[in-house]
Amino acid sequence: MRHLIDPLDFTREETDRLLGLADRIWEHPAEYAHSCDGRVLATLFYEPSTRTRLSFESAMLRLGGQVLGFASSDSSSAAKGESVADTIRMISGYADIAAMRHSKEGAPFVASRYSAIPVINAGDGGHQHPTQTLTDLFTIRRRHGRVGGVTIGLCGDLKFGRTVHSLIKSLVRYEDVRFIFISPEELRVPSYILKEVVEPSGHTWREARAMEEVMPELDILYMTRVQRERFFNEEDYVRLKDSYILTPEKLCAAKESLSILHPLPRVNEIAPEVDHDPRAVYFQQARGGVFVRMALLLALLGLEKGVLDGEGA
Ligand code: NCD
Repeated sequence: MRHLIDPLDFTREETDRLLGLADRIWEHPAEYAHSCDGRVLATLFYEPSTRTRLSFESAMLRLGGQVLGFASSDSSSAAKGESVADTIRMISGYADIAAMRHSKEGAPFVASRYSAIPVINAGDGGHQHPTQTLTDLFTIRRRHGRVGGVTIGLCGDLKFGRTVHSLIKSLVRYEDVRFIFISPEELRVPSYILKEVVEPSGHTWREARAMEEVMPELDILYMTRVQRERFFNEEDYVRLKDSYILTPEKLCAAKESLSILHPLPRVNEIAPEVDHDPRAVYFQQARGGVFVRMALLLALLGLEKGVLDGEGA
């Protein structure tokens, strides 16, 4: 049985095959409309979510399966002090696969150790968010034809943003990716990611403080929200929250072929006028997340052979 806790739980080949399956589902959804008949997905969300939870639920429903779960910790027995380990043991009897979001780093990993069903990390604290990364890679591939060969600017809260951490981990496995990390000093990419992931990869990287400085170079601009819930005090959040605001004026210097991604939700970091720009692909990105999660459910449930290693074609 396989889980998806960290983006590196799947090899690059497995990841690419999964994205290929997502493409096929996108093009021929009717062929998959009953693939999960009789299967149940549990969504265990201890932290707020709109896209991730609903796209997982939509994915299972579109595959013919059913869903159950909770959308906040106060509506589950966590409020009474139940451990994640106990919860997942029981859920293993109620569902065939589970997606878990938790504010504590490592909670989905702990759950996977006690689970009898596949566990998917749907975001753990400021740590990882592997299914958002699959969605990001899927979007980049559909826009640029392949994942590698791009200059990507990651902008905003690179310290607490789990989507950024997972995306960097995955992107270093592709050829010819140049990273530009655009953040205030206080929200720089954590040094463990620079030292353990970026530097050993040999990929080119640098840091910038202003997005204007680097705009003309970028093929992808990955905007992120300043993660208010992970700050220790409100004052720091207020000081940093509007560090970057993408406007149509700033885009004048950008390439025509730029793709602007954002895992969403957005707060102030992208002005609404940018939404009309053909380079703004964040809503398409969110839509793609459903097909990616459909592919993931099929692969982890063993219903689509040949995607994950050890499951013959
Ligand atoms: C992200 C998350 O939860 O980490 N949202 C998402 O899943 N699409 C990004 C964020 O909350 O800023």
